[in-house]
Amino acid sequence: MDRLRIIGGTPLFGSVEISGAKNAALPILFASILSNQKSVIQNIPLLADINTTLKVLDALGMKTLFKLENQVIEIDGASLNAHEAPYELVRTMRASILVLGPLLARKRIARVSLPGGCAIGARPVNFHLAALEKMGAHFKIESGYIDGFAPQGLKGAEIEFPFPSVGATENILMACVLAEGKSILRNAACEPEIVDLAKALRSMGAKISGEGTPTIHIDGVSSLQAMNHAIAPDRIEAATFLCAGLITRGKITVRGISADFMRSAIDHLKKSGALITEGKNEITAEYSQELAPFHLVTEPFPGFPTDMQAQFMALATQSRGKSKISETIFENRFMHVPELIRLGAKIEIKGNEALVSGPAALSGATVMATDLRASASLILAGLVAEGETIIRRIYHLDRGYEQIELKLSKLGAQIFREKDK
Ligand code: EPZ
Repeated sequence: MDRLRIIGGTPLFGSVEISGAKNAALPILFASILSNQKSVIQNIPLLADINTTLKVLDALGMKTLFKLENQVIEIDGASLNAHEAPYELVRTMRASILVLGPLLARKRIARVSLPGGCAIGARPVNFHLAALEKMGAHFKIESGYIDGFAPQGLKGAEIEFPFPSVGATENILMACVLAEGKSILRNAACEPEIVDLAKALRSMGAKISGEGTPTIHIDGVSSLQAMNHAIAPDRIEAATFLCAGLITRGKITVRGISADFMRSAIDHLKKSGALITEGKNEITAEYSQELAPFHLVTEPFPGFPTDMQAQFMALATQSRGKSKISETIFENRFMHVPELIRLGAKIEIKGNEALVSGPAALSGATVMATDLRASASLILAGLVAEGETIIRRIYHLDRGYEQIELKLSKLGAQIFREKDK
């Protein structure tokens, strides 16, 4: 197992190319199940979750080819010959639930291990199942597996989500494109990854409108062609790097992404005192004055992304004054707090609110990564902590950040990946 060693105190300067978005790539790779032709997907990020996704597709009999040199994946839809996503894979990546809609739409049968809870919350899939039942599917949940059947095929339906769930919107959108008749999704999630999925589905011949808004209209078609799509940039990776520039009192430009993808994060960076410059397809954050405290509340897009909460908490440890952070999406997403406190941060938790007092003089220590975004916040804190910080269990990090230590060291960071002892 690997770990990261960071020597803090170096301001970061320079520019970094942003990779394809994990949270767009996963549903888009699973969407290839919908066609019996060969799909080609470009700008694939090099992440552990991509490898798990390919293993799930492999378990379904799908022939895949990952051309690492140009980060392209080819998937042969004709080779689909199974309908089970096994426990061993689903437990490592709960997003595997996103095979349910495509399998029921294409094969009218699916068997998927029920995703258990995860570090950040219970994360049930009841919205997914309720919506698919409205489309004519029926389920048997037994021995930890969801068995789904739609012998007559899926029917278009009007579906209102109780909460704008990203995963449920993606799963049902993929189910509706091959369903019989029209569907309307109301209170749908509006994240940029949903927009990217709709774009990929349209490249296959799907009839969709309204993605990116709470109401999506779909006209089902009888079959879909091959997908030809390039994954959109990762707004969470981009915002993480902009935070790294700010917290180290440096200046970083993220390339290959437009500010529209991450308006709320940029507004909060400005509130904390960053000098932000927006170019056509790049954003620069520059430290210009002592960081100011802020109050943020995580919300569905276009609100502040919960996937940036931990990174902004690290930033708040260096702001002069009290910052308040309210986590409203996941019930257990403060696992990074005790680890940040080990580095010297001053943080109090009251229910779903964290009060952060700063600026705190952080000092290097050994800390434990608990989930993907928590790992990123520990890196940010380690970059400003006095002395050496060791971050263990970074397999969490590798799930969602492509070669982050290489990218950071090119910006001047003293960060090293090494074998854990
Ligand atoms: C997606 O998870 C992302 N994952 C998460 O990113 C992200 O934090 C989350 O959306 C919110 O933005 C991927 O895209 C692979 P939800 P998802 O369904 O789809 C409740 C990262 O760090 N809910 O929008 O699982 C749920 O418990 C990851 O990259 C139900 O109650 O999130 C949560 O409280 C972490 N029943 C809320 O809705 C359901 O059936 C939002 O969950 C579905 C969801």
